[in-house]
Amino acid sequence: MLLKRENILLVDDDIQILELLQRHLKSMQYHTYKAVSVKEALFILKDTKIDLLITDINMPEVNGIQLVKYAAEHYPHMPKLVVTGFPSVEDALNVIKSGATDYLTKPFTKSELEAAVKKSFASVPSQKSISTKTGKPAANVYTDMIGESEAFQKVAEIIDRVKDNRATILVQGESGTGKELVARAVHYTGKFARAPFIAVNCGAIPENLLEAELFGYTKGAFTGANENRNGFFQAANGGTIFLDEIGNAPLSVQNKLLRVLQEKEVTKVGSQKSEKLEVRIIAATNSDLEELIAKKTFREDLYYRLSVVVIKVPPLRERSSDIPLLVVKFARKYGIEYKDRLVRISQDAMGILERYSWPGNIRELENVIQRAVIMCDGEITLQQLPDTLKYKINFPKKSLKTLREKEREYVEKVLSLMGGNKTKAAKILDIDRKTLREKLK
Ligand SMILES: Nc1ncnc2c1ncn2[C@@H]1O[C@H](COP(=O)(O)OP(=O)(O)OP(=O)(O)O)[C@@H](O)[C@H]1O
Ligand SMILES: [Mg+2]
Repeated sequence: MLLKRENILLVDDDIQILELLQRHLKSMQYHTYKAVSVKEALFILKDTKIDLLITDINMPEVNGIQLVKYAAEHYPHMPKLVVTGFPSVEDALNVIKSGATDYLTKPFTKSELEAAVKKSFASVPSQKSISTKTGKPAANVYTDMIGESEAFQKVAEIIDRVKDNRATILVQGESGTGKELVARAVHYTGKFARAPFIAVNCGAIPENLLEAELFGYTKGAFTGANENRNGFFQAANGGTIFLDEIGNAPLSVQNKLLRVLQEKEVTKVGSQKSEKLEVRIIAATNSDLEELIAKKTFREDLYYRLSVVVIKVPPLRERSSDIPLLVVKFARKYGIEYKDRLVRISQDAMGILERYSWPGNIRELENVIQRAVIMCDGEITLQQLPDTLKYKINFPKKSLKTLREKEREYVEKVLSLMGGNKTKAAKILDIDRKTLREKLK
């Protein structure tokens, strides 16, 4: 296990102070995020778990006191340390009244900073034990999933309906659409969120091991089985098992899965005894199971058992109105990770991203943005986008017009600009009045 370091958010419009703070804090083993304005700080606060806020007061636009007030209201348990130039008594009073935990006067030494940071952390009850034991809080896992399009909202609605019961779910969708995220959202927003979520990639485990991995085995069941071992199913008891790439499960495993679904019990490899389990099964596939059934590589009865609830995750090209949201999210994520900064996106770059067809879906989009963030200087422009994006464009069929429609629109526009005067319009269009009359029919 890696030890989690505290995250400290540094806010100052002076880059040099930011870098100085960062150097000092890094050497004290803290992890830092930088923001040059309150606006940037708010974005980071929204997306990231911050354990301590350190902010300057005087900044253009919104000042640090307002940030502290906002944070006091929305993040009451996060300590807030204010760094200030020459505080008057009045200033100091304002700082404390705003909800700041403490303040530090510039210029400061490294040890003064260290003392102030330690004091700030000591001033609030530790939240750490809660967050490290259970991992990410449930809400966060769900909010990782974003989308406002109708297609996405439909998925969110189904998740909401099924999250609290153990009905078996089949998640279908092209590669990279977010199937695993859907499965996690079902688990972590539902009633059984505190029980385990176990993800198994049925395509990645060799066929001869998959059965033992899933259901466990008894000592002596096969050469090398030196002890009794539980499988993924036993480990997921009370929670959810996520069977990814179910289309790749060999028939022997399919037979056993069918039994689990029918009897709600599993049998270890090499054992005669079965065990009762309470596990919700979520299976996912990007292959067409009906085709596999026709080819007799997938059991039809298993397919029906699995598809009690079917969640179809739409490809990105069918929810292109979500592209800007996703782009901003990934730019922010990788901007903070690689540049310690928020990265902007130029308008023409966003235009290209919105029009591309994304055969690799959200995963492809994420990779493109990740790479662009690494290559850019604070802003993603056309230059950082791969050429393929510029040629393979997704034309939304419905909104495209025929040549005739386009022509008529233009003729009408010219005519109206000429105040309805057909002679003038015809002249501009370089056609005679008779042709114009025909076109308007
Ligand atoms: N709605 C969403 N909002 C934000 N990020 C998303 C969303 N859906 C998917 N992602 C991100 O896209 C990437 C791909 O998602 P995921 O791994 O769940 O896809 P998948 O359908 O399981 O892909 P594959 O078929 O290749 O296994 C992940 O990094 C995930 O975090
Ligand atoms: Mg997946």
